[in-house]
Amino acid sequence: MSLKEEVQKRRTFAIISHPDAGKTTLTEKCLLFGGAIQTAGAVKSNKIKKGAASDFMEIERQRGISVATSVMSFDYNNCKVNLLDTPGHKDFAEDTYRTLTAVDSVILVIDCVKGVEEQTERLMEVCRMRDTPVIIFINKMDREGRPPFDLLDELEQKLHISTRPLAWPIGMGSDFQGVYNLYEKSLYLFSANKTKISDDIVAIQDLNDPELDKTVGERAANQLREDVELVEGVYEPFNLEMYQSGLLAPVFFGSALNNFGVKELLDAFTRIAPHPHDRESVNRVVAPEENKFSGFIFKIHANLDPRHRDRIAFLRVCSGKFERNKFFHHVRLDKNFRFSNPYAFLAQDKEVIEEAFPGDVIGLYDTGNFKIGDTLTEGEDLIFKGIPSFSPEIFREVINTDPMKTKQLEKGVQQLTDEGVAQLFIQQPGNRKIIGTVGELQFDVIQYRLENEYGASCRFIPMNVYKACWLTSENQEILDAFCRIKAKDIAFDKDNNRVYMAETEWQLNMTIRNNPEIQFHFISEFT
Ligand code: G4P
Repeated sequence: MSLKEEVQKRRTFAIISHPDAGKTTLTEKCLLFGGAIQTAGAVKSNKIKKGAASDFMEIERQRGISVATSVMSFDYNNCKVNLLDTPGHKDFAEDTYRTLTAVDSVILVIDCVKGVEEQTERLMEVCRMRDTPVIIFINKMDREGRPPFDLLDELEQKLHISTRPLAWPIGMGSDFQGVYNLYEKSLYLFSANKTKISDDIVAIQDLNDPELDKTVGERAANQLREDVELVEGVYEPFNLEMYQSGLLAPVFFGSALNNFGVKELLDAFTRIAPHPHDRESVNRVVAPEENKFSGFIFKIHANLDPRHRDRIAFLRVCSGKFERNKFFHHVRLDKNFRFSNPYAFLAQDKEVIEEAFPGDVIGLYDTGNFKIGDTLTEGEDLIFKGIPSFSPEIFREVINTDPMKTKQLEKGVQQLTDEGVAQLFIQQPGNRKIIGTVGELQFDVIQYRLENEYGASCRFIPMNVYKACWLTSENQEILDAFCRIKAKDIAFDKDNNRVYMAETEWQLNMTIRNNPEIQFHFISEFT
């Protein structure tokens, strides 16, 4: 198969949601329909199995969250689908944001009872930053949720995106009978089925077909006719280009738990979701069909097997062909590396692969050479854009509690922050280490891992910091003077960029107002 054909076959995406909306359930059902697993329940039981095998995962298991971002690949409708899993817990949101830089589109799951929730809005903001195409799946239609038209209005208002339903629910809650596929104009019957794939599909070509009344009952049939007329009257026809530009979100309804609406979703997804496209690098735009390989690291995962301390770096292929045992250029280190055991991920397994194509995600064994955002190429000094680092929300100073293990602590803090577990800021004088995270949980994870993987111990002192802002200015002298005057509030990030640590929102606003020539950024680029 040609490189172009390989590219066109690929659909690399993530399922995202506010916790509990049904992301895990939908992921599992996608794998089930994709033939990657045979029975429902496999994804969850896999999580527990991993947890039992390692103490670190045990923390996660006890807390009932999934920290790891894994990748699952399967074939569906002649497409090679790469599904990147993201942690649901909000304390690990930054992990999710980074994963979103490695996908070409997303499916956003909404709970029909709760509607748009806090984390949904935040995730959508991140998608908008990169114009990532979004398909919305309104889940749990077997529960008494809000009326579909209200939900659509709320989506448009809160997520600032146009919507276009491509499926329409017939009833809701205990009356939920199925969805009418507005795209194919066919009707799919609801048969609650939690473990198998059902194909009770009744093809209704014309909504006025009396067969519809027989199948769903006269009242529901009339309601559907009314709703569909309204939908077709109010909404513009579905526009593929607008969807692929991230301006329009097609909406599907269903119940992931009951397998319902998932097939419609996947069918439409493989038809309309974009294959890997051009990516901007700092140097130039890189097309996936280019012959020369390029890719970037978006995630580094600690190896959870205590006998092997090395880590796994997740690389997204952007162009050309990745090959096992071939030398590739590590741009930041200006060194060549080859990989004898690159991994591809299947639903529950990983296997060594010989080659990988744009859109694929592979796991590379790493002994400490990679940082988030690193680029591999065939020689060109490319640096891919768009791996942002967000201003953390909680800041604590790291205090070494075992002076004999200072080196271990330094190394541990360095490596864990390279992995993107948290952000590190250094403040002078005294080389104070400040760790910034988006959630409390990361501090537990860091402390636990420092002790168990590096033999170092520390405690954290809470700091009175509201936000860390990256600073830029056209006028270098003004920026230098500002940093001198505010020295006690200035720290350096890992790449030696200056950041301003504001104590309160009020102080930050004042400082921004008083320093019009300085730009305060809440997001940095890792590159
Ligand atoms: P998340 O990954 O987004 O956090 O959500 P997850 O899939 O774990 O789903 C959260 C809860 O919602 C689960 O119930 C799940 O069974 C339920 N759920 C998912 N899809 C549907 C649906 O279509 N209809 C209904 N009624 N419920 C749904 P749980 O009780 O928290 O977990 P479990 O004990 O059932 O596994």
